[in-house]
Amino acid sequence: MAVLPILTAPHHRLKLKAEPVEKIDAAICQLIDDMLETMYAAPGIGLAAPQVNILKRLLVIDLTKENEPHTPFCMINPELIWLSDEKSTYKEGCLSVPRHYADVVRPASIRVRFSDRYNKTNEIVADDRLATVIQHEIDHLDGILFFDHLTDLKRNIIIRKLIKIKKTKPVGVKF
Ligand code: NI
Repeated sequence: MAVLPILTAPHHRLKLKAEPVEKIDAAICQLIDDMLETMYAAPGIGLAAPQVNILKRLLVIDLTKENEPHTPFCMINPELIWLSDEKSTYKEGCLSVPRHYADVVRPASIRVRFSDRYNKTNEIVADDRLATVIQHEIDHLDGILFFDHLTDLKRNIIIRKLIKIKKTKPVGVKF
């Protein structure tokens, strides 16, 4: 297992669309384990492969609290197949957008289809915070960050501050 470097915005690789995982092999399972270790080390509650510079449609999530045993799950090639009309608002953060949080409005409930690491196809309905986290992570697979859901003004303030942080203290991987 290994902790992988996390790309931080603004970064052109975070804006790219990820490719489907063709085959769930040992390398993909290793990547899932490395992503989980990276997420726990950060610490974070979700991580998508493009954040560790791998353009594959793969994400990991664990919403358990600090003092509870880990209950991670991964989604390979996730697809949102239903979104509720009802919306909910949560304050979102992102390991690729350090130190910034903002209220984001998204569908309150979703149905998502995905493969697990054993190549089994699953379908779940998620509500509330889990629905938000899944949508946030799937956004990463399409090159979308949470601040892309904000007004131009709010987004530009965050990006300007992120650029300032990068200039004073380089973080993440550079290409
Ligand atoms: Ni994120």
